[in-house]
Amino acid sequence: MDVIIASNEQEAGRIAAAHIAHALRGIERPVLGVATGSSPLSTYEDLGRRIKEGSLDLSQARAFALDEYVGIPADNPLSYADTIRTTVTEPLGFDPANVRTPDGMADDIAAGAKEYDEAIKAAGGIDVQILGIGNNGHIGFNEPGSSLVSRTRQVCLTRETREANARYFDDPADVPTHAVSQGLGTIMEARKVVLVALGEQKAAAIAAACEGPMGAHCPATLLQMHPDAVIVVDEAAGSQLQRKDYYADVQRLMPEDQRVVD
Ligand code: PGA
Repeated sequence: MDVIIASNEQEAGRIAAAHIAHALRGIERPVLGVATGSSPLSTYEDLGRRIKEGSLDLSQARAFALDEYVGIPADNPLSYADTIRTTVTEPLGFDPANVRTPDGMADDIAAGAKEYDEAIKAAGGIDVQILGIGNNGHIGFNEPGSSLVSRTRQVCLTRETREANARYFDDPADVPTHAVSQGLGTIMEARKVVLVALGEQKAAAIAAACEGPMGAHCPATLLQMHPDAVIVVDEAAGSQLQRKDYYADVQRLMPEDQRVVD
């Protein structure tokens, strides 16, 4: 795993977007895994800048969202389907027909979740999965204790996740108790993973994810087993890392031909 410490949110977004654009180069119909939440917003902004400047084109790309609440219809602005539409599909010029979100309103959630995994496979798998991380180390809505080989499925949200997400709801009691999330096994099949973490409240989860022992207590630690995971943090989110100097050396001393440049 490559850990990159950016000086602020904008720089984190630029670095993450550079890695995404670099990984998608030459792929005719790329498949992106996309996340909601505040962490990837500066990354999406920078991808938008690249599209505007003509160095990136996502008009043929396909996207699969990481997760969706159970019980919130797709046309409700609180749904992740709608959030992805306003933060990804429209600003980045995706064809809406090529963007999918797990169905949190299905009569048979389990069947829908299985079909979602199959649709990702049928699309050829995810080229780049964009991730945030929860304060508790979750990725997607794979809460601590999730099976490390889990597939897309219904999950019960932890109290800390519901509290963290209450900021979007008028009444904290309205935060759904369940979601449909890509599983850890699903996420691990992406060919590249780019995780963005911002702010002090993510510092402990990032230290655990990058330097702690691997285990279900902190689902993001599984990325230590991924062959191509890039973790981009701002200084606050990276503040509890023990090996900051080494991560800086890795970037500084990287051979020219391996360097990801804008
Ligand atoms: P955030 O959420 O990007 O809004 O902090 C991340 C997450 O909970 O996975």
